[in-house]
Amino acid sequence: MTVTKGLEGIVATTSSISSIIDGVLTYRGINIDDLAEHASFEEVAYLLWYGKLPNQSELDELIQKFSEYAAVPAQVLEQIKLYPSNTNSMAALRTAVSSLALYDESANDMSQEANIRKAIKLQAQIPTIVAAFARIRKGQEPVAPKSGVSIAYNFLYMLTGQEPDQVAVKALDQALVLHADHELNASTFAARVTVATLSDIYSGVTSAIGALKGPLHGGANEAVMVMLEEIGSFDNVESYINAKLANKDKIMGFGHRVYKGGDPRAKHLQKMSRELGKLTGNMELYEMSVKIEELVTGQKGLKPNVDFYSASVYTTLQIPRDLFTPIFAISRCSGWTAHILEQYENNRLIRPRAEYTGPVDQKVTPIAER
Ligand SMILES: CC(C)(COP(=O)(O)OP(=O)(O)OC[C@H]1O[C@@H](n2cnc3c(N)ncnc32)[C@H](O)[C@@H]1OP(=O)(O)O)[C@@H](O)C(=O)NCCC(=O)NCCS
Repeated sequence: MTVTKGLEGIVATTSSISSIIDGVLTYRGINIDDLAEHASFEEVAYLLWYGKLPNQSELDELIQKFSEYAAVPAQVLEQIKLYPSNTNSMAALRTAVSSLALYDESANDMSQEANIRKAIKLQAQIPTIVAAFARIRKGQEPVAPKSGVSIAYNFLYMLTGQEPDQVAVKALDQALVLHADHELNASTFAARVTVATLSDIYSGVTSAIGALKGPLHGGANEAVMVMLEEIGSFDNVESYINAKLANKDKIMGFGHRVYKGGDPRAKHLQKMSRELGKLTGNMELYEMSVKIEELVTGQKGLKPNVDFYSASVYTTLQIPRDLFTPIFAISRCSGWTAHILEQYENNRLIRPRAEYTGPVDQKVTPIAER
């Protein structure tokens, strides 16, 4: 047996959803740069699920379905009200998404038709859950979703109860496009492993949320903001980063298992961070981020990943730090569910082996002698 730690470089499945070839990320063969500039998140979700971009009536129909499904069962909202006040936002999302299955009569219907309907439903309901959680913990009532608007618009609307600014909607929409899918990343793999047992789509997405929560994966965007807050001001950047590097600490938002020449999504988020900084007249977070990049790339050769500039983008949009990873989940739900549907289509149980390194030839010692 040859052990490959972290399964690095192991090709575990075929997939026609997204690819990373020579550092270029595509969804269904379309370069992410093209999609980031020219497609909405709703078009991208359709693309991931159906393998092609929607025409206008297909897009209208999808937006209509999102509107129809966006409200979550009252019982789920009542449960959120019972979560302890210090509940971690990703733990809340994981639990609430798991509980959605209890109120869906088709939760265990494994037909393709039911599974695509549940994929669309989960995509519609996750933003509602994240926004409701954010309000409930502040003692506010959840805001009911609006019909006929984009996921980005609805999320910001449900979060604040106010009509969101068009610039904020556009920035969030583009961030959602950039996070929607990413080949066999850890959370997608978790989703595929779960449903490869022929478990249901809710179990797959719940597993994925659990995997995304960790700071080596989706949790990195929040960790970047923690770092920016610790640094505090532009003048402290150099000494802080130099000390971290000297101590061999990881700098969150840098490095990647697959991209060694740079994450193609980062440049879009960097541009967004700069533009939002200019618009709001506060460039400090952007300038601090650029300085951090200069130091980390200069000294370690590590490039920023998708999480690095998303931290300053979301903060400039006045989104609380601990909602950054749930927003990643809002977007990645499209990719997770596309992969789950693909796994069901051509399923085989995912069950690798482990090289045993424990003791051998042991015997049960009677309890009194242990
Ligand atoms: C993404 C990540 C988990 C990839 O991990 P990986 O492929 O297993 O790579 P490793 O963690 O083994 O790192 C390889 C080397 O680069 C170093 N390195 C990797 N990322 C680093 C970072 N962000 N800061 C400092 N050093 C880093 C490691 O310390 C290691 O050095 P060593 O060989 O001297 O021990 C890793 O780069 C990381 O932890 N980044 C920070 C978290 C993050 O931003 N995650 C979001 C990913 S989109």
